[in-house]
Order: sequence, then structure tokens, then C-alpha cells
Amino acid sequence: MNILLNNRIISRESFTVDLEDRGFQFGDGIYEVIRIYDGFFFEWEAHLERLVRSAKELMLPLPTAIHTLYQNLQLLMKDSKITNGTVYIQVTRGAAPRFHAFPKETEPTLVAYVREMQRPLEQMRNGIKTITTEDIRWLRVDIKSLNLLGNVLAKQKAVEQGGAEAILIRDGIVTEGSSSNLFAIKGKQCFTHPANHLILNGITRQVVLRLLNNSELTLHETSFTLDELLEMDEVFITNTGQEVCPVIQIDDSVIGKGTPGVYTRQLQSAFEALLGAVIPS
Ligand code: PDD
Repeated sequence: MNILLNNRIISRESFTVDLEDRGFQFGDGIYEVIRIYDGFFFEWEAHLERLVRSAKELMLPLPTAIHTLYQNLQLLMKDSKITNGTVYIQVTRGAAPRFHAFPKETEPTLVAYVREMQRPLEQMRNGIKTITTEDIRWLRVDIKSLNLLGNVLAKQKAVEQGGAEAILIRDGIVTEGSSSNLFAIKGKQCFTHPANHLILNGITRQVVLRLLNNSELTLHETSFTLDELLEMDEVFITNTGQEVCPVIQIDDSVIGKGTPGVYTRQLQSAFEALLGAVIPS
């Protein structure tokens, strides 16, 4: 496998992480995951815009201009010969003697690599079981930073309990999943947590918001409680890998009839139609 290191494509074997890289020691960095469908970066502008925003919020200089990064990602994808998968991009503040405050003259480190990935069709067709856990993350999860321990512990808890995702609850309010955004439908009303500092404003979430504009559902970007969530007719999560994925169980509570709901199905179809429309044939 080859990787992108700042402006060069090098072999994975020749890449080393500096002992004092701040990403390694402090989690001082940011990342993005972009889906590749048929050799096409889905929603790449939105992902790169979010990368720029995350960098700005952390006062982290990016090592290359965004259009150069995009060209490099194209080269990396071609080099990988992978046409369906993801590209992971990470930027850290670079290596410097360990001291919490920003170092003065350190170059940031950007790495990116492509991995093959198939669409998780079984989960998307049948829906997933989830668990709930307290949202113990810091208060700037709108930044896509490398600090993911709260997410890691939550997902681990889900896996240990046979669930595919952990739904995070802060002060009784449902925020999002450990690596996804969450939507819930009651009647013709669709609810999702507002895009503030308590959730990551997912790119898939933003696509779904646009799709909802053309549906018979009324969207409410408003917070709701766990009790309210359990009473919803349909629940689904969204993210780059799982697209629109139905949730059929939360802890011991079955959602709706325990099968993916009709509106969730419609949104999945609309999402697929979008893929057909944006991927050049
Ligand atoms: N995570 N919320 C959290 C906490 C996430 O980690 C993610 C995605 C999302 C959805 O964002 P998007 O639709 O842009 O993928 C929401 C990625 C996939 C990850 O960490 O691998």
C-alpha cells in the first residue's frame, strides 16, 4: 500500500511516525473520511471544507492548499487501483519536543491512504441493534479531531453488548452515535439534533437534510430525550460508510415493528438515486 505524506506518495513501509508527533502524543490533529464510489470521491468538496474548518478551529495550519490536496488524493486513488472504498486523511500539528502549548516552528504532517470497502448491504437492508451510553466527550465534537476516546469507549461498549452502534446521551438528550448522526421519525415529523458544538455535522447528515426537503416529512433540527426516542416510529443513523442505516433496536426496546421503516427505506432509495446521479458513468 502507498500513502500520501504531505505532497509525496510513498510506500507504507517507508513511513515512520515521529516519537514526538503531536498527533501521537496529544491527539493534536484532525481527520476526514471520504467515500469512494466507482472511482469518484463522494461529496469531496463538503469533506474538504469541513477539514479546513476543523483546522481553523484548532489553529492548525494545513500543509497544502486544498486544491493541491484534492489533486494529490486523485493521484493516490489512481495509484491504489481501488475504485470502491474510503480515503482517510489526517493532519497533525507535527513533531516537536513535548510541551502542551503549540510549538513555534513545526511543520504539520498530512497523511492519507485508501482502503477498499464494500457497502454494508446487510446492515442497510435489515437494520442494526444499538445500545445507549453516556456522552462523555469534550464540548467541541463539531471539530473532527483525533481525540476519539469517548467515541472509542462507546463503540466498544456496543460491540461487547452485541450492538452495531452506541447512541450517546448527554444530560438526558440524544446527541448522535459514536461514529454517526441519528435521525428519528414520528408520524410525518423527522427529528435530529441541531448542528452545534455537541455533534459532528456529518456530511451524510447534510445530504439527508437536502433529501428531506423533497419528502413529505417535516424536519425538526431540535433536541429530544431518550424516552422520546424510544417512542419514535423509525430511527436511523447516517455516516460515510453506512449511508442511511435503519436502527431496529435500542437497548431492550424494539423500534416500530422491529424492521426498517417505510420513510427510512424511501430515504435510502433517494440516497442511492443520488449516487447514480453524481457518479459519472
Ligand atoms: N465518522 N458523528 C460522528 C461522531 C462521527 O464520527 C461521524 C463519522 C459522523 C458522520 O459523519 P459523516 O456523515 O461525515 O461521515 C457523525 C467517520 C466515518 C469515522 O470516524 O470513521
